[in-house]
Amino acid sequence: MITGKTAVVGIIGDPVEHSLSPLMHNAAFKHLKMDYAYVPFHVKRGDLESAIDGARSMGIKGLNITIPHKTEVINYLNEITQTAQLIGAVNTIKFDQTVISGYNTDGIGAVKAIEEKTSIHGKKIIIMGAGGAARAISFQLLYNGAGEVLIANRTMKNACKLTEDLQKNFSGSIGCLGLNDKLNEELKDADVLINTTPVGMYPNEDQKPILTRDMMHCDLIVNDIVYNPLKTGLLREAEKAGAKTITGTKMLIYQGMESFQIWTGISPSVEIFEKALMTGLGYR
Ligand code: ATR
Repeated sequence: MITGKTAVVGIIGDPVEHSLSPLMHNAAFKHLKMDYAYVPFHVKRGDLESAIDGARSMGIKGLNITIPHKTEVINYLNEITQTAQLIGAVNTIKFDQTVISGYNTDGIGAVKAIEEKTSIHGKKIIIMGAGGAARAISFQLLYNGAGEVLIANRTMKNACKLTEDLQKNFSGSIGCLGLNDKLNEELKDADVLINTTPVGMYPNEDQKPILTRDMMHCDLIVNDIVYNPLKTGLLREAEKAGAKTITGTKMLIYQGMESFQIWTGISPSVEIFEKALMTGLGYR
């Protein structure tokens, strides 16, 4: 029940109505008997500054930030974490008295999802795609000690731009390549493969995956960040190769749990977040 004492957190974006975050966070608040409510707010481009100012005035405790505001929001913060600054995007803010702090939990979500299966320390990781998600994930992987990160992308120019940005901030093995024979070669001794492209995403589930079973090996861990469908064409091919797979829901769950922890200081259980998300997606 919402009362005068209920603490409010939420998400701002345009569009925002498709967001699954309210389901996950509100399920955790209910389970933990916490007097909080998580609310979606539709904030259009051009209205971000007044929205942040209004949220602060109204005593909102924290917000998730989604498209198209993740970069612009940095202008309205008092503090930002080192990784969010490097990534150049913020998906979580916290209001604390007069201070507004920014974080990026997307990459952390991906790292935690992979760490359910293996430590990333010293590992060779190939990321397909070079957009916003690839950027957040690659910076966080190197920050957390990945041994080698390769960006494989359809457009080489975009892969090389991200690679240069990574090389400016991290030493170690960082490289770029196309989605071609070189990728097949590099996959032979890779430990982890992450797909950040929309290939195979609803409504294009039948799109041919970038890789087929013969290009993957049984010691590879394959994570597709596409979560609809749950088992993408790429993950089906990976299973046929005997590889371990991680569904896209895991990154979504762990990025949300990290935001929850930032706002409340409490670590929610992964099972509660997962159950709410799976129900929201119609998988159970
Ligand atoms: P996000 O912010 O979610 O990461 P994005 O910025 O639109 O999304 O990035 C999409 C990525 O998927 C890009 O790297 C894009 O490749 P290009 O740089 O060549 O555009 C990649 N991508 C999109 N559709 C693709 C397809 N059909 N095959 C291969 N890569 C694709």
